[in-house]
Amino acid sequence: MGLPRPYTRTITEGPTPADATAAPALPYPSGWSALAFSSELKPGTVLTRPLAGEDVVLYRLRSGGLRAIRPYCPHLGAHLGLARVDGDDLVCPFHRFAFGPDGACVRTGYDTPPPRTPLTRLPVHEVNGAVLVWRHHDGRDPDWFVPPWHEIGHRPAREASWELAGNVQEVIENSVDLGHFATLHGWRRAEMGAPVAYDDAGFHVSMRAHESAPLLGDFVVDIEVDGYGLGCLHADVHTPRLGLRMCTMVLPTAVGPHRMQFRQRNRIAFTEPSRLPAPLARTVSRTAARLLDRAVFRSSCEFTAADFPIWNHKQYLQPPGLAHGDGPIGPFRRWARRFYPPVEGAESGVVPSAHGEAEGGAARRAGQQGPCGTRQVGR
Ligand code: FES
Ligand SMILES: [Fe+2]
Repeated sequence: MGLPRPYTRTITEGPTPADATAAPALPYPSGWSALAFSSELKPGTVLTRPLAGEDVVLYRLRSGGLRAIRPYCPHLGAHLGLARVDGDDLVCPFHRFAFGPDGACVRTGYDTPPPRTPLTRLPVHEVNGAVLVWRHHDGRDPDWFVPPWHEIGHRPAREASWELAGNVQEVIENSVDLGHFATLHGWRRAEMGAPVAYDDAGFHVSMRAHESAPLLGDFVVDIEVDGYGLGCLHADVHTPRLGLRMCTMVLPTAVGPHRMQFRQRNRIAFTEPSRLPAPLARTVSRTAARLLDRAVFRSSCEFTAADFPIWNHKQYLQPPGLAHGDGPIGPFRRWARRFYPPVEGAESGVVPSAHGEAEGGAARRAGQQGPCGTRQVGR
């Protein structure tokens, strides 16, 4: 009797993406999430993007305004991602009901009086070249906003997006994970310029990186990071040795259980050399930006992408097994709790798991030990 034939010659091996292994440890966070770059929404464009397990339809009126709506037509439920913009109206493809800029139905495809049911609009905020949509676990209207930032340089911004498994909080938390800048990103050393400052919806990190490069030797990079909720980071990165300034926006969006889209938008500028006459200095700085813009963006994306395999496979551990040399992860996590629904009857600030169990409780019940004696949550 021969051996049974294998069903497939391909065997599964290697780390399993986080969204294929376990229920997510955290629910969707509340706040603003980027669903597109402004450049993707020319007048008349209709786009569908996922947010927290649901589709959101974005469209730009011919007169320039932007709308975000729930996806199903209030008439008979056609998906409005298939609709078209006619002037400032959105026209459903099924029975051609048209909806005006305020969401009200203004006509039917049969020239009969329009029904009263409007589109369901979602709060949308366009700032810094990004389109952000608000979602809150208790349905409240926006009570904070992402502010506009200075625009540096004269080159158009460069933009990129990716989709991967992972949890948006871990992207934002990355900015206070001081230890990983040396171990994962290859800096010689990173240090905080001041304690991380927190307020209701934001935080600020001041950091200095010590780096080394073959032709440059040792040099420093000064980084000022502003975080807004769990969906938006803005970093000002200054490398005095190169006269290079870079503004980076990092925008992670929870699109499904333990899955995210990740957007990055950069602008650069070179300092005008002070030893040159002003017009020449300006030309030198603009020429440097034009020649190096693409290479700097690529290098910035490679820096970010070093984290992708980690986020794509990791588990969110609470409590983590922290060590001396880590950044201030504990205070960050305490601040981040405000973006999740509270757990009834739990001590203040406890975060529910995606299935409504309080962190810690789930781990205790599961009784699972992770690496370094930490407990794993949400498995
Ligand atoms: S379903 Fe949209 S017009 Fe009928
Ligand atoms: Fe990182």
